[in-house]
Amino acid sequence: MLHVPVLLEESLDFLLHDLSGKYLDLTFGRGSHSQEILKRLIPEGSLHAVDRDPEAVLFGKENINDPRFSIYHSNYSEIDSLFPEFQFEGILLDLGTCSTHLDNPNRGFSFQSNGPLDMRMDISTGFSAADWLNSATESEISDVLYQYGDEKASRKIANAIVKFRTMKPLKTTFELTTVIETVLKRTGKIHPATKSFQAIRIHVNQELHHLRVVLSKLHSILRAGGIVVVISFHSLEDRIVKNFFKPEVDRLPKDIPINTSVTEKYKCIGKKIKPSVHEIKNNPRSRSAVMRVFSKL
Ligand SMILES: C[S@@+](CC[C@H](N)C(=O)[O-])C[C@H]1O[C@@H](n2cnc3c(N)ncnc32)[C@H](O)[C@@H]1O
Repeated sequence: MLHVPVLLEESLDFLLHDLSGKYLDLTFGRGSHSQEILKRLIPEGSLHAVDRDPEAVLFGKENINDPRFSIYHSNYSEIDSLFPEFQFEGILLDLGTCSTHLDNPNRGFSFQSNGPLDMRMDISTGFSAADWLNSATESEISDVLYQYGDEKASRKIANAIVKFRTMKPLKTTFELTTVIETVLKRTGKIHPATKSFQAIRIHVNQELHHLRVVLSKLHSILRAGGIVVVISFHSLEDRIVKNFFKPEVDRLPKDIPINTSVTEKYKCIGKKIKPSVHEIKNNPRSRSAVMRVFSKL
């Protein structure tokens, strides 16, 4: 199944304020946003795209044949070295994983199909979920499950993982799911492994770290008046985005006089925008999306 884009119309209506401009899609995925951007740009416009997943980049190279388009395999936290002298009109960040990750058992993202316990978005680097779960301490595992998954049973699950691996190393998604199910019983619609899988994926891909880094680098590659659109899928990401773009004046200690001069870098032009009821009905994955939009001053 292909990835269904989230908040497509809403995000591009903000992003594309000059149809002859140079744009950057930092999370290409399967290119649904990118293809729509190219459709709307006039011939003078151009689009650069980035993804850390080599499969996404290959998909882009094979499926988008347009002289205005180019795609790069890179972590978005390295954009300053990729585009040292560019000044973009708009930059899009559609965070998280693609449905294509979840749908491919060989990538190890899903508890619903069996496969190697990998979860890396970029399989050419870093450590897999199995590598980490087989070597981390019980308290490191418990902390990750709690902090990135808000998993209340984090300690029990971490303990069960450590017990399992004294017999044999964890290798597959179903082994991890089974271990979690020994501790947590299914209540309601949500599968007991949902939060743990999310937490481990965030940790393995260092998602929050890379998000903080990329946000700090956007300013230097954005034209004055340029637009940043960020779509987040969980509150940890959204909080980082919201706090990063918070006006400097709101960060000053309360006892500092109001007329203290601060140089603001961005203005918020779209706050906490959510998918419509219609979009959520057609694409339930969109239900947790939140979009924020900023303009460089
Ligand atoms: C939600 S999908 C984007 C979907 C895309 N907008 C589309 O229309 O198909 C997120 C994509 O961002 C990529 N990604 C996540 N973190 C990244 C990072 N730090 N650097 C580069 N790409 C990243 C993932 O590999 C994934 O393909």
